[in-house]
Amino acid sequence: MSTGRSFSTRIQEGADPGLYTKAFVKIANDPYHPSSNPGGIVGLGVAENLLMGEELVDLSRRAMTSNLSTQDLSYGDDLWGSKRLHRALAGFLNEWFEPYEEVQPEHIITSAGLSCSIDQLTYTLFNPSEGILILRPYYAGFNRDFCKRNGVKLVGVTHPPSTPSFQRRPQAEEQPKGEDEEEQGEDREVRGIVLCNPHNPTGRVVPRSIVLGYCDFAQRHDLQLISDEIYAQSVFSSSESSMHEIRGSKFTSALNLDVEKETGRPFNRSRLHVLYGMSKDFGANGFRIGVLINQDNQEFIRLMAGMSIFSKISAPADVIFSALLSSEYLSTYLLISRERLRVAHDLVETWFSVRGCTVYRCDAGPFLWVDMGDRLGITTWEEEAQWHTRLFEEGKVYISLGATYKSERPGYFRITFAVPESTLLEGLGRMEKILGLRISSRSTHEP
Ligand SMILES: Cc1ncc(COP(=O)(O)O)c(C=O)c1O
Repeated sequence: MSTGRSFSTRIQEGADPGLYTKAFVKIANDPYHPSSNPGGIVGLGVAENLLMGEELVDLSRRAMTSNLSTQDLSYGDDLWGSKRLHRALAGFLNEWFEPYEEVQPEHIITSAGLSCSIDQLTYTLFNPSEGILILRPYYAGFNRDFCKRNGVKLVGVTHPPSTPSFQRRPQAEEQPKGEDEEEQGEDREVRGIVLCNPHNPTGRVVPRSIVLGYCDFAQRHDLQLISDEIYAQSVFSSSESSMHEIRGSKFTSALNLDVEKETGRPFNRSRLHVLYGMSKDFGANGFRIGVLINQDNQEFIRLMAGMSIFSKISAPADVIFSALLSSEYLSTYLLISRERLRVAHDLVETWFSVRGCTVYRCDAGPFLWVDMGDRLGITTWEEEAQWHTRLFEEGKVYISLGATYKSERPGYFRITFAVPESTLLEGLGRMEKILGLRISSRSTHEP
């Protein structure tokens, strides 16, 4: 019997997660394991840090034993995350993000993963007809997180080919309408701008002067500024040895800037929304904890809080992270994680560069951005997709495809290295075979 229309128009519009979702299901059903499933799929395409699994499971067990209480069985003491978690988060942010104004628990709204926070922030700030600027390439999931339910469009702006993405101020200044074919001819009012620092997919830390440039640009064009800093504590650049140096000199949170003082021009901090979460730096995608900080817009926080029951963090995740963020072991945890990221990164970076692929300099995060265009003779999007399909179907290796990040030209891939070494080596071995990537005399690094 026909019921007429089956689905809403809404659900059929917007970004189609297609390729990624299908691959995700296949990998989940047939994951490679050196002894129990040696013929399985090697997943090097998901942005996750699997290098801290043992430690996190151990910490979680202990936290649940000592901290879970009957209050955790109710809705708790706040609908938008427990007071306990917000206090722990404020303490963590004050220590690790060096905010110029101290973060208070009331400045924070938490939800079940950062994707959720982005969806709710977009719902709260923007109308469906509006656009949000973002530098290309950009994290593919933003199309889902910002746009899927809210109707807004990300307006991609590019940097000139072969220029490192972050050496200039936002291109939006020069091309406020965006360059994407899909966006041509659309008359959207641009009301926001996204900064992703450290950046997905390139793994670059954005220099302080450019973070400042984004703030200034947002102010001058009356835009909401969304600074996604989910990889903030995964900076591993080899040159910085001590944690203090990394914290002090390398990564600059937008929270750290006294924009008015540094630019000599006004800056309304109510437009600044900083995003963070536990998924990446703590290797805890599955715990689903997203964090949004706004220090100067109580009305925005009130409106977000009104929706938070839709995506409240579950009590066990709240219990575990309240304990971890306040624990004395925290700095050791982050230090070990960074060191493991650095070792895995160096291995993969060398592996690709001695095979003649152009590897982007990467400072942070669990993945690396590699240009295999020249090496494989890729000149079209179809060729890029064909290599990707061959790798997945013949080689049973999944890496991420540049096109999904709106990269500037075909041939880029994002490779996750934060997986157990045996998995990594198996994946690289299969790539060598399928892609014919033999060691070449030409070793290439992108500056
Ligand atoms: C830049 C960025 N923002 C947000 C997210 C979403 O994170 P979560 O797992 O907390 O939803 C991701 C996940 O890959 C990401 O890379």
